Amino acid sequence: MSTTRTFPDGFVWGSATASYQIEGAATEGGRGPSIWDTFSHTPGKTLNGDTGDVADDHYHRWQEDVAHIKNLGLGAYRFSIAWPRVQPGGSGEFNEEGIAFYSRLVDALIEAGVKPVVTLYHWDLPQELEDAGGWANRETAYAFARYARRMAQELGGRIDTWTTLNEPWCSAFLGYASGVHAPGIVDAVAALKAVHHLNLAHGLAAQEIRDVLGEAAKVSLTLNLHVFRPDDPSSASDLDAVRKADEIANRTFLGPVLEGAYPADLIARTSGLTDWSFVQHGDLEITNQPLDVLGVNYYSTARVRTYAGAGERQQADGHKDSEGSPWIGADDVEFVPQPGPYTAMGWNIEPAGLTDLLLSLHETYPDQPLMITENGAAFDDVVSDDGRVHDDRRVAYLRDHVEALGQARDKGVDVRGYFAWSLLDNFEWAYGYDRRFGIIRVDYDTQMRTWKDSAYWYRKLATTGTLPA
Ligand code: NOJ
Repeated sequence: MSTTRTFPDGFVWGSATASYQIEGAATEGGRGPSIWDTFSHTPGKTLNGDTGDVADDHYHRWQEDVAHIKNLGLGAYRFSIAWPRVQPGGSGEFNEEGIAFYSRLVDALIEAGVKPVVTLYHWDLPQELEDAGGWANRETAYAFARYARRMAQELGGRIDTWTTLNEPWCSAFLGYASGVHAPGIVDAVAALKAVHHLNLAHGLAAQEIRDVLGEAAKVSLTLNLHVFRPDDPSSASDLDAVRKADEIANRTFLGPVLEGAYPADLIARTSGLTDWSFVQHGDLEITNQPLDVLGVNYYSTARVRTYAGAGERQQADGHKDSEGSPWIGADDVEFVPQPGPYTAMGWNIEPAGLTDLLLSLHETYPDQPLMITENGAAFDDVVSDDGRVHDDRRVAYLRDHVEALGQARDKGVDVRGYFAWSLLDNFEWAYGYDRRFGIIRVDYDTQMRTWKDSAYWYRKLATTGTLPA
């Protein structure tokens, strides 16, 4: 029997992007270099040597893009500010031209009836700050707080929600442990320091935003919380693998931010690497600021077990033991290949993982409002003879995940909105332009935007609040 599902009026339907992935204009308007400019221009770091130099040329086409957002009937648009565009060196002078770009964008969104949801850091750290140690250097957290303060002063009450950081797990562990993201460093201790300095940066920025805008400012943080399944649910050692993976991937952020503590077991397990003295007295009060909403990015699940000791250990994303691993302090955790279906990223599709994640967050933090700040899928889209993109699998992916979210709401979880990743095909980091997540296709030769079937489908959902059967 097919049923329809209706969401309440206030539920927010949005779509998301990030500065380096769409803007281009890397050397225009007074923008300084970021770690992603440096990294993507280093041979071998991105697929096909792709860079964000031009990307979707959104810097010049933002008005057209706002028109698409409006025509989609979206209630909110989540975008990020490129720190090196508004403060090229990250700690010195601010760049009025860069600030004006975002100010115009925000005004245009409001004019279009769309709530601006801003992310202050979606991975494009000013290169000069990296040269001084990047996120492994505590000073970066203070520089971030000063930048956040200025943005609060400039954009002030026009912003609906202030998200400090996007997926700090990726910044810390992919940036400093496995090195597959900028700045491409392989150093476990630097990664743990980066974790803490990102948490500190979040807390300091939250304080600054509230200091400037008062308690009316809505402050948020977006995490990519991993859903780990035990390979054998009846095996104590597989459950232990889940616990260890959860600690290094999720509790490293949820702990300090929502509870004011890092997991004691993780600290013990990494004691051979570091004494964690980078966590200074008083820091955990700073990281533990109230969150008006916790942003959750969800794509997939992972299956783990404890490595039994024979043959090469499987790591997530195909990492070899000899390479940098993001799973610090979880050396005996093995990743078991998942049953499909998969997206073009090779990620398994499991909508129930989203329901489970939301339920478990709600169980641990019952009063914490939640928002899905990213969910979506890359597929090898084809432009049909009729000029359209019939991306049925993306439509099914989005529909099934919205349904999964609805099931969590049925059980009392306070999820207030959903943002499809992404508005546009864009620069998918180490995978360059090869992986397409957009609900709108971008032809990178002409920069033409074409609505995929998923965009038409999403418009219906966003404008009616009803998930068709
Ligand atoms: C998470 C990141 O925030 C975003 O930048 C990325 O493109 C998507 N996931 C897909 O990988």
